[in-house]
Amino acid sequence: MKNIVILISGGGSNMAAIVRSAQQQRWEQHYGARVVAVVSNKPDAKGLDFARAQGIATEVLEHPPFPSREAFDAELARVIDRYTPTLVVLAGFMRILSPGFVTHYAGRLLNIHPSLLPAFPGLHTHQRAIEAGCKFAGASVHLVTADLDAGPIVDQAIVPVLPGDSAALLAARVLTQEHLLYPRAIVQLLS
Ligand code: GAR
Repeated sequence: MKNIVILISGGGSNMAAIVRSAQQQRWEQHYGARVVAVVSNKPDAKGLDFARAQGIATEVLEHPPFPSREAFDAELARVIDRYTPTLVVLAGFMRILSPGFVTHYAGRLLNIHPSLLPAFPGLHTHQRAIEAGCKFAGASVHLVTADLDAGPIVDQAIVPVLPGDSAALLAARVLTQEHLLYPRAIVQLLS
């Protein structure tokens, strides 16, 4: 069985889209894959409620008690590894990961970033795309490497930037496509 562990920090709409796709497309039957756990670094992450309602194991690990990023990441890896993951999927997990963590999961750590990488790594992607006068924006699913938002791209989705767009409007348009893109990219890796 290929176990998928999903990491979230907030709304978890990408996580929910992955879980729904796994159910609707019968990933267990076709790819021998299932979402086994959802891990959040925020106890109030909305996505945890969805995961619990789906009967998926949930874990919460907050960083304040840990003396360093490395110490937190080591414990995070311990929690994740209990589920023997084939894939670790970052879905709106808003923390920079230490090189040790990234190396530990090399080749099986995926992230979704709300821009057409390599354009606009980092934060405030939608505002920056609007200010740059981009006619198209989108999202990228990529393998995570030590360099922020710079690993090999698995797949991308493109949306138009429309006249009068605000960052919020553009973010919502991109997010709708993220929900199709992320499950599709995971299937590519499972196939
Ligand atoms: C998504 O738009 C995702 O691309 C972005 O956070 C949002 C999470 O939404 N991720 C990043 O900005 C990572 N740098 P969700 O919690 O509803 O899936």
